[in-house]
Parts: sequence; structure tokens; C-alpha cells
Amino acid sequence: MKIILLGPPGAGKGTIAKVLTQYDGSVQISTGDILRGAVAAGTELGKQAEAAMKAGNLVTDELIMGIMEQRLQQDDCKIGYLLDGFPRTIPQARALKTLLEKLNEKLDCVLELDISRDVIIDRLTTRRTCTQCGAIYNIKSKPPKVDGICDVCGSDIVQRDDETEAVISNRLEVYNDQTAPLVDFYRQEGLLLSIQTSDSGPVLEALKSRLR
Ligand code: AP5
Repeated sequence: MKIILLGPPGAGKGTIAKVLTQYDGSVQISTGDILRGAVAAGTELGKQAEAAMKAGNLVTDELIMGIMEQRLQQDDCKIGYLLDGFPRTIPQARALKTLLEKLNEKLDCVLELDISRDVIIDRLTTRRTCTQCGAIYNIKSKPPKVDGICDVCGSDIVQRDDETEAVISNRLEVYNDQTAPLVDFYRQEGLLLSIQTSDSGPVLEALKSRLR
């Protein structure tokens, strides 16, 4: 399936994408992971994105579309993909629509992850991420077996640079201003499916039954 995961920081886009890729063989495409990889590698892309990411602002639409136009034409996308963190602005959504028309492809659905602000702050301040493989942990709800070490690849797990309360607050404002309008955009396209993700337990079961 070709799915967009839409939701504020900490809504669980990355967590749900990782589970769904095992379920149906689609690939997870996270623009945040691609950009963090570029920053860590010190590439030109990373240099252009770093300041905006540290402040919790969006990088430019041109930079993101440059990445995604190439990524969505790679062979592994033919099976299906979960877009995690893209699109994030109306211009990105319009550019994606044009690109998919050109590729003769269609989205199956846009899954909106609805979550309260309190739960977001709690989840993001307690999240930890693997520096190598990107596995996502939470010191409250999903701790690694050995403190500070990734269960999957044995590398260090750390808090991301954009996880201070001030930066999280800015990311939420940016989401409300620039990304939340996509909910109406995709509702009008007839693609929107909303799911409440504040409760930790039944999210994936609810999701599977809605997608069946
Ligand atoms: P990005 O990496 O996309 O960050 P984000 O959207 O802010 O989302 P997060 O990764 O913080 O949260 P998530 O929803 O994936 O939650 P997670 O599953 O980790 O973007 C980072 C930056 O890159 C942006 O600020 C921007 O600068 C730039 N950028 C990226 N894409 C861009 C674009 N298209 N345009 C412009 N700029 C762009 O879960 C969070 C925590 O909660 C984890 O600890 C997890 O274990 C826990 N958790 C998740 N689900 C549950 C559950 N059901 N129950 C209990 N705990 C749970």
C-alpha cells in the first residue's frame, strides 16, 4: 500500500511505520531520518538542513521535493511505502500529487494520527533513538533490554537534538501552522482516515482492522 502517516511530532509515525513495514513489506520513507543521516554525514544537504532542524523549523520545500522526487522513483517503492513526515506543507502535498500523476501512481490512504499535547510532550521527552539503525525506544513504555544500548544493533541510543521542551513547543506550533491544514486537503481528496493514538495499547489492532 501507499500510505501517508500524518500527525504531530511524537504521534507515533515512526513507530507505526516500522511495525507496518514488517506486516506488508512496504518501505518506510522518513524525511526526518534522511535529513538526520545527511547532517551526521556532513553532506551539503545536511549543512543546508541542520539549523532549521535544530530549531524545530521546517527545511525548505525545494530541498524536500528534491529528495522525494528521486526517492519515490527507486525500485523498492514499487511494493508500497509509508511516508513518515512527508508531505508537511500544502506546496509539498500539491507537488506530491503532481509527481504521482506523472508516475501513474495513487495513494491508498492518508492516516491521521490524532494525539493530545500532554501525551506528545511526555513521549518526546522520554523517547530514545538508536544512533545507527534508527530503532525507536521509550524509557517509560519501551525501554531497551540494556540501558543505553540498542536491542537491534548494539549501538548507543540517545535523545535527539530537537527533543528539548522549547524545541518541541516550536515543532508543535510549526505543525499547527503549516502541516495541520493537510488534514482538510486530504479529506477533500477523499483519502483521510483518522485514528486516536493517545492510548498506547490498542493502536495497531485498531489500525489493522481499519485498513482491512
Ligand atoms: P521528523 O523526524 O519527521 O520528526 P517529527 O515529525 O517531529 O516526528 P517524530 O519523529 O518526532 O515523532 P513520531 O511521530 O515519528 O513519533 P515516534 O514513533 O518516534 O522531523 C524532524 C525534523 O526534520 C523536522 O522538525 C524538520 O526540521 C525536518 N523535516 C522532516 N521532514 C520534513 C518535511 N517534509 N518538510 C520540511 N522539513 C522536514 O514516537 C514518539 C515516542 O512515543 C517514542 O518514544 C515511542 O516509543 C513512543 N510511542 C509511539 N507510539 C506509542 C504508543 N502507541 N504508545 C506508547 N508510546 C508510544
